[in-house]
Amino acid sequence: MRTPIIAGNWKMNKNPKETTEFVNAVKDQLPESSKVESVIGAPAVDLQALLDAAKGTNLKVAAENCYFEDEGAFTGETSPKVLSEMGVDYVIIGHSERRQYFGETDEDINKKAKAVFANNMLPIICCGETLDQREAGQTNEWVSGQITNALKGLSADQVASLVIAYEPIWAIGTGKTASSDQAQEVVHVLRETVAKLYDQTTASKVRIQYGGSVKPANVKELMSKEDIDGGLVGGASMVPESFLELVNFNA
Ligand code: 13P
Repeated sequence: MRTPIIAGNWKMNKNPKETTEFVNAVKDQLPESSKVESVIGAPAVDLQALLDAAKGTNLKVAAENCYFEDEGAFTGETSPKVLSEMGVDYVIIGHSERRQYFGETDEDINKKAKAVFANNMLPIICCGETLDQREAGQTNEWVSGQITNALKGLSADQVASLVIAYEPIWAIGTGKTASSDQAQEVVHVLRETVAKLYDQTTASKVRIQYGGSVKPANVKELMSKEDIDGGLVGGASMVPESFLELVNFNA
């Protein structure tokens, strides 16, 4: 019922030329969007190249961040309005790297989610706990709080259409994947959080990804879990062959 969504997050990697080469290498082997949505999130400086190359293919395009105002005196920021005009589909917001290195708060993330909707795009909203929080038994409460704050003021229809990404910080770029049971447990808690904040229908529609060392070798197992609807993938999304294995996980 929920269409799986596999999204690459290239972080601050690749230039426009490499972006075009990547898309040309994958574009003919992507699954139908109605079966699995294939998305690449690229740095702002690569988005035009990504959009040009992805035109007419099954590849959707995500920005990795945006600001919450459409325009104005905000030196160095990226306008959600312009992203939308360019043809961007999704915006990743609240990634743990944005929270950790750039001081983004739950409140910023909530404002960004609203700005993304106001500009007719969809947010991929990230949450996740540190290893200390996991060891202290605080994971469920923490991520559920992050998502509760991120969704404030959004309508049920908006929430049903967006994507949540559960990315335990200790699993990002470390090669340490959460076990599929650990991932399923937290993703289920997030779905219940949406059910409590909204209703069961909304919770059954919202797509929730797992992220953190997802790779061709573990994607099938993760995707077999009831509540896991996709992956947000860093390292393994940057090589065409491996990205193709990920998006074709059920082929
Ligand atoms: P890795 O897949 O490299 O662990 O990165 C995960 C991530 O942060 C995706 O947003």
